[in-house]
Amino acid sequence: MIKKAVIPAAGLGTRFLPATKAQPKEMLPIIDTPTIQYVVQEAIDSGIDDILIISGKGKRTIEDHFDRNFQLETQLKNKADHDLYNEIRRISDMANIHFVRQKELNGLGDAIRYARLHTGDDPFAVLLGDTIIDSVIPVTQQLVDIYNQYKQSIIACEMVPEDKVSCYGIVGGDKISDKIWNVTDLVEKPEVGKSPSNLAIAGRYILTPEIYKMLEQTSFGKGNEIQLTDALRLLLRKERILSYTIEGKRYDIGNKLDYLKTIVDFALKRKGFAEPFREFLQEKLK
Ligand code: G1P
Repeated sequence: MIKKAVIPAAGLGTRFLPATKAQPKEMLPIIDTPTIQYVVQEAIDSGIDDILIISGKGKRTIEDHFDRNFQLETQLKNKADHDLYNEIRRISDMANIHFVRQKELNGLGDAIRYARLHTGDDPFAVLLGDTIIDSVIPVTQQLVDIYNQYKQSIIACEMVPEDKVSCYGIVGGDKISDKIWNVTDLVEKPEVGKSPSNLAIAGRYILTPEIYKMLEQTSFGKGNEIQLTDALRLLLRKERILSYTIEGKRYDIGNKLDYLKTIVDFALKRKGFAEPFREFLQEKLK
C-alpha cells in the first residue's frame, strides 16, 4: 500500500523569472487553479491523502493556499457565493498536508532526503510540484497499480525526441512488456548522442525507503546538485527498478512555452468558456 506522497516544491524557478522572483512557480495558475493544487489532487485521486510538501524560502504562499482563510470565507458567505465558498473550504480540507523546508537548494535528491522522517520505512510516491499530468487514470494511481503487482521502485517515463534527451533524466533498460522496462541504467540530462534511450523520467515515482541510504552516498552531480537520478542508479545495485511509460499528457509548468500550451489546452476543455475561447483563437489564427 502506498499511503504517503512527497511533493518537492523548493526549487527557485529560474526558468520562469521574473514571475518567480517573489512567488513560487508551483503557484502559477492554470486559469484559476495553482499548479500545485492539480498535483495534490492527483495524489488524492490516487488514494493518497497524506502529503508532504518540501518547500523552502519564498514558498509560504503554498502553505497559505492549503490553509483556512476565515476573512475570505466570511466574505463569500455574506455574499452568498456558495460555489466559491465550498471550493475555498474544500481546498483547505482536501488532504492531510505537511510541510518541511529544504534549507539549502542542493537539488531534487537533497529535497527528497527531507522526507525521511515522514515516510519512515514505507514506500512512497513522489510527484514533482511543477508538473501536471492530465490523464483518465491519475498517473500516480497507474504507478501504484504497478507497484502493487511488483513491489519495486517505479519511475514514470515518456518517450521524448532525440533533441530533448538532454532536458531530462533518461533510463535505459530491457523491455518486460509494452509499457514496463526493467531499468539497467539511468543518466541525468545526458548529452545528445550519449543517451541510453529516449525514455525520459516524467516527474512521478514510487520509491522504496532504501532510496534514503542511496541519497546519503550520492555526491553532487549534474548542475552541481544532488540528483535523484544518481541515487536511483546506486539503488540499481541493490534492488530492481522498473520504468513505466505513462498514459497521459505531461505539462512542465517551469517552462514558459509549455505553460502557455497548458493554459490553452485546459481552457479548451473548461466548461463555460471553452467555446468562446475556441472562437477567439480561431479568429486570432485566421
Ligand atoms: C527533474 C529530474 C529529471 C526529470 C525531470 C522531469 O529535472 O531531475 O530526471 O526528467 O525533473 O521534469 P528538472 O526538470 O527539475 O531539472
